[in-house]
Amino acid sequence: MKVKLTRLIMTLSMAMPMQQAHAEVTGAALAQQGAPGVPACLSCHGARGEGLAATGFPRLAGQSTAYLEKQLRAFAGGQRVSPQMQAIASALDDSQIRAVAAYYGKLPGWQAAPSANPAAAAPEPWTRGQKLAIRGNWDKEIPACFACHGPAGEGIAPHFPALSGQPAAYTRSQLKAWQSGTRSNDPHGLMKSVALRMSPAEIDAVSAYLANPLPLSPEER
Ligand code: HEC
Ligand code: HEC
Repeated sequence: MKVKLTRLIMTLSMAMPMQQAHAEVTGAALAQQGAPGVPACLSCHGARGEGLAATGFPRLAGQSTAYLEKQLRAFAGGQRVSPQMQAIASALDDSQIRAVAAYYGKLPGWQAAPSANPAAAAPEPWTRGQKLAIRGNWDKEIPACFACHGPAGEGIAPHFPALSGQPAAYTRSQLKAWQSGTRSNDPHGLMKSVALRMSPAEIDAVSAYLANPLPLSPEER
């Protein structure tokens, strides 16, 4: 009996690191090559999960593993509607979801380019969006986005995703999806109630800012 138990423990302790290594390989392989019935994620989400601004495909790198898993299950379950992602998420089995989410969850998040001056490119919506992100608009009871999403929009895992560096078209589409009800997977309806208070101009402004944000300098606060 004792011998059997020792053998069992040895087998388990050898099998576990191998399983982990296998999960990583599958996650990277799915991202880079896809699988039968599943296109490679990188064809839309970029070689390093950085997203694609021109088409509004979101950045995945920098989101937490748990958040990415949750979103893949939401596409499969219909709480998030996306013609591209519904078929892909439904084709992934549970271990593939966990593996690919773990792969992207380890890739580095967005960083501002050191010399960037995004305000110069589109001063009006960007500055207005900056105020909304950092201070909110209390006349309309819109809280500051960064109150929940982290002081630089970098996200607070696992519940509050990173917003900084997302393509403007993506952020806009998500806020509109909450307004129209095609996205309904937010805990306690937190995002729906924020989105419902926002005007189209406010949505455009905050989306422009979040694509390339800079925090307020101490004098501006
Ligand atoms: C044909 C293009 C395409 C491919 C291929 C694709 N995606 Fe997507 N993905 C999208 C689009 C478009 C969205 C935004 C959907 C929306 O509007 O809600 C998205 C959104 C997501 C999100 C939600 C991100 C967030 O911040 O909430 C996750 C997670 C995701 N994709 C994972 C994957 C994975 C994993 C793969 C590969 C197995 C993959 N995608 C392949 C187009 C694609
Ligand atoms: C009270 C807290 C709270 C505030 C304030 C808040 N959010 Fe959110 N937001 C959330 C939560 C929670 C989620 C995650 C929803 C889910 O689990 O799918 C989220 C998700 C999002 C997403 C989806 C990101 C993705 O890739 O899936 C966007 C875009 C977003 N918020 C934008 C904003 C903007 C813009 C503001 C400010 C105008 C804002 N949020 C303010 C709580 C908040």
